[in-house]
Formats: sequence, structure tokens, C-alpha cells
Amino acid sequence: MAKLGGAVVFCCGCVLFAFLAGRQPAVAAETFDGVVFRLVNEAINGNYSVPGDPRVGPALIRLLFHDCWLTGCDGSVLLSSTPTDGNNTERTAASNIGLGGFDLINKIKAEINNTANDASCADILAFAARDAAGILSGGAISYAVATGRRDGANSSAAAANAALPGSTFKFTQLAASFAARGMGSGDLVALSGAHSVGVCHSSSFDDRLDPAKSAGEINATYQVALIRDVAEKKQLQGNQDPIEMNNIRDMNSSFQSASLYDATGVNPSKGVLDNSYYTANLQNMVLLRSDWALTTDGVARNKMQEYKKNATKWYEDFGAAMARLSKLLPPEGQYLEDKRKNCSVTNLSFMNSNGY
Ligand code: HEM
Ligand SMILES: *[C@@H]1O[C@H](CO)[C@@H](O)[C@H](O)[C@H]1NC(C)=O
Ligand SMILES: *[C@@H]1O[C@H](CO)[C@@H](O)[C@H](O)[C@H]1NC(C)=O
Ligand SMILES: *[C@@H]1O[C@H](CO)[C@@H](O)[C@H](O)[C@H]1NC(C)=O
Ligand SMILES: *[C@@H]1O[C@H](CO)[C@@H](O)[C@H](O)[C@H]1NC(C)=O
Ligand SMILES: *[C@@H]1O[C@H](CO)[C@@H](O)[C@H](O)[C@H]1NC(C)=O
Ligand SMILES: *[C@@H]1O[C@H](CO)[C@@H](O)[C@H](O)[C@H]1NC(C)=O
Ligand SMILES: *[C@@H]1O[C@H](CO)[C@@H](O)[C@H](O)[C@H]1NC(C)=O
Ligand SMILES: *[C@@H]1O[C@H](CO)[C@@H](O)[C@H](O)[C@H]1NC(C)=O
Repeated sequence: MAKLGGAVVFCCGCVLFAFLAGRQPAVAAETFDGVVFRLVNEAINGNYSVPGDPRVGPALIRLLFHDCWLTGCDGSVLLSSTPTDGNNTERTAASNIGLGGFDLINKIKAEINNTANDASCADILAFAARDAAGILSGGAISYAVATGRRDGANSSAAAANAALPGSTFKFTQLAASFAARGMGSGDLVALSGAHSVGVCHSSSFDDRLDPAKSAGEINATYQVALIRDVAEKKQLQGNQDPIEMNNIRDMNSSFQSASLYDATGVNPSKGVLDNSYYTANLQNMVLLRSDWALTTDGVARNKMQEYKKNATKWYEDFGAAMARLSKLLPPEGQYLEDKRKNCSVTNLSFMNSNGY
């Protein structure tokens, strides 16, 4: 009887399957955006066989910023060598410490290479960063990105160090770095909210751990907890330059209570891209001096109060600022390739190394 029952169920399954198969419309061909979203989502959230990687989403968002900030959004940050820069490309710059996401960009490229969805590496990065922001915010951040970027063939570590804002910058220096790219201090305040996710090497905030050099710039109880935690992380990570979570929201509860962190209004879910950065910053509980610097400007401080209270407003402004960032163009006359064949090398070096 049990056997018969099984057979009946199996047979029903067959009929149902045949029914659905007959009615299903043809599956639409996957688009470029579709491939990028699928692979970014899989990298962040994992799938049946592979766990997700909490590091890759934040890495992609930072990678876009560091790409677009010099020579526009041209994929220059992705290059590991060029004919004129050798191996001293942007990604080796001190300012680019901890940069990641390269493997995923290369994986996306390999999947679309020579298909109808093929795109420049700069476009892949712009879309991947957009999708990372969408996924890490649970869908709250969404903005349109267009294709059409071309790939640069120049990538200099020295130029990256000169162009990227430093973690010890004062407000006026940060604002000037943004203004030079047609971005306002409003964009600076909104985009800095990206530091609600991801990590930071202790060498990027060492200056903040010395009470003599940082009085009034960092909450003292938080500083004490941080000094202790950095010492512990050096042991745990076996590294004299360990990483810490950017956001105190992502630290454990004993760290938070030792710091006297006030999490009122904050979604405690770790790793979410949201407005919790402003709650932390307005308590002087952020890692970087450049983050704290935003509190020193009256207008920026008011904006932070607004973002802290109104998540919707921040999601909107962050998305709009990311869209502007994604549109920064290479200077007129810069040598560009339509699409690299390999995001790590220019087509010129590609041909050289392949002997044609
Ligand atoms: C305003 C000036 C900024 C400065 C000085 C700055 C500096 C830094 C530094 C020093 C780190 C840690 C690097 C390390 O030690 O590993 C970091 C991480 C990060 N930054 Fe910024 N940043 C700035 C603006 C931005 C903007 C505009 C974005 C994106 C829209 C951004 C996104 C990120 C993200 C997501 C991380 C974490 C990366 C990861 O976990 O891999 N930052 N930033
Ligand atoms: C799961 O993700 C990994 C890594 O992205 C990928 O190589 C693999 O093909 C995926 N497996 C399935 C079943 O989708
Ligand atoms: C760049 O690095 C590769 C391998 O890491 C090495 O073979 C090559 O000689 C280097 N090129 C230059 C110009 O330094
Ligand atoms: C793309 O295709 C070219 C051949 O046209 C190949 O040499 C190259 O390695 C491919 N790139 C990637 C990332 O798979
Ligand atoms: C940029 O790259 C192109 C192509 O390799 C090269 O001709 C040009 O000299 C490079 N420009 C600089 C400033 O290095
Ligand atoms: C640090 O933050 C706690 C909690 O908000 C507060 O009680 C304390 O006064 C702050 N310390 C300083 C020096 O501002
Ligand atoms: C939480 O962080 C503190 C240091 O800030 C550390 O001593 C403690 O072991 C951590 N607790 C857990 C459960 O990981
Ligand atoms: C929050 O921001 C949204 C979007 O700009 C706006 O529509 C809403 O009125 C704001 N809410 C409050 C309470 O100010
Ligand atoms: C892309 O170029 C890098 C650097 O030369 C190389 O290591 C990698 O294997 C290349 N990828 C493909 C798919 O050819």
C-alpha cells in the first residue's frame, strides 16, 4: 500500500511537471545587470554549497569610491600592472590598504567575457557596488546606474596616495577633496555613512588611540575599550596591524557596554548598511579622525542629526550620492580602452604578455 501511494505521488509529480513545463513562457535571456546581481548576491549571501562572505559587500563599495576618485570611474583601481606603471598600480598604494573585491570582479568578467553581456570593467564595478549597497541595506538603497564607462590603462600608486582623502584629514580638506570632483559637503556627509559597514586596520586609526593626541576628539570610555580590544586583536589575528569593525554596532555587547554606547534607535543586526554610523559618530565613537571631523562643521553636524533620525532620508541621499560618484568621468584625452579582456591588465599588456 505504501508502495502504491508512493507511485501515485510520483505520477502526480510527473503530471504537474508536464503541466508547468507546457505553460511556462520561454526563460528570458539573462542581462548584464542580472549576471552582476546574481554573482554579487551569491558572494555576499552564499548558496547551498558555499557560505557568504561578509567582507565582500563593503569591499565593493569602497572599491568604487577608490576607482572613481582618480581618473574617474575607469576601472583603474582593478589593474595589477600596466605598460607604463609596471606593478606600482593604485591597488598597491598605502591609501588602498585592505582593498578587496577583485576576485569577484574578475569572476563576473570571466562569466560575461565574449558574450552579449560583455562590459567594461569600470561598468562591472559600478553595478557590483550598487548591488552590494542594495543587498547590504536589505533593499533600502536603490539607484539607477548606466553602462558606457570605458576602461583606463593608467594606474599609479603615487597618484592614488595623492588623490585619496587621508584618514587624518580635517573637515576643510575632506570637503575640498569632494569639491574638486564636483561633489558637495552634503555628499561627503551622506557617503561617509558607508562606514556603517566593513573594517579598518588599526594603523588607519592609531592616532586616535593616544589620549594625548586625541583629547576631545574621541569618547574616552570608547577609547579605553578600543585600546584594549586592539591589543587583543593583535594576538587573535596574529598581526600587529589587526582589523576592527568600523561600526561599534558591529562590536560585541561587552565592548558596547564597556564603551557606554547608546544604541537607541539602532537596528542591532550586524553588517547592515544603514544610518547607524551617525548615531555612533554623534557619540564620538568612530574609528577614523576623518569621520570625527564631520562633527566639527556645523552644517555637516546638523545633517548627521537628520540622518540619525531619518533613515529614509539617508537611504535616498546616499543612493543619490553613489549615483553621482558612479558618473565621475575620466579627464578629456585620457587613453581608454572600450573593454578590457581581463580586469587586472590592460589590453595592451595583455597582448604583450600573450605575444601578439
Ligand atoms: C571621506 C573620506 C574617507 C576616508 C578618509 C576614508 C577612509 C577609510 C579608511 C582608512 C578605511 C579603512 C581601511 C583599512 O584600514 O583597511 C575605510 C574603509 C571603508 N570605507 Fe572609507 N573613507 C572615506 C570615504 C568613504 C566613502 C565615500 C566610501 C563609499 C561610499 C567609503 C567606504 C568605505 C567602506 C565600505 C570601508 C570598509 C571596507 C572594507 O571593509 O573592506 N569610504 N575608509
Ligand atoms: C555557489 O557559489 C559558488 C561561489 O560563488 C559557485 O562557485 C558555485 O557555482 C555556486 N553553486 C551553486 C549551486 O550555485
Ligand atoms: C610584476 O610582477 C610580476 C609577478 O609578480 C613579475 O613577474 C614582473 O617582473 C613584475 N614587473 C615589473 C615591471 O616589475
Ligand atoms: C576573455 O577572452 C579572451 C579571448 O578573447 C581570453 O584571452 C581572456 O582570458 C578572457 N578573459 C577572461 C577574464 O576570462
Ligand atoms: C597611459 O597609458 C597609455 C597606454 O599604455 C600610455 O601610452 C600613456 O603614456 C600612459 N600615461 C601615463 C601618464 O602614464
Ligand atoms: C562618553 O560617552 C558616554 C556615554 O554617552 C558619556 O557618559 C561620557 O560622558 C562620554 N565621555 C566623554 C569624555 O565625552
Ligand atoms: C568581546 O570583546 C571583548 C573586547 O572588547 C573581548 O574581551 C571579549 O572576549 C569578546 N567577547 C566575546 C564573547 O567574543
Ligand atoms: C524623512 O525623510 C523623508 C525622505 O526625504 C521625508 O519624506 C520624511 O518627511 C522625513 N521624515 C521626517 C519625520 O522628517
Ligand atoms: C588576468 O590577468 C592576470 C594578471 O596577468 C592573470 O593572473 C590572470 O590569470 C588573468 N585571468 C585570465 C582569466 O586570463
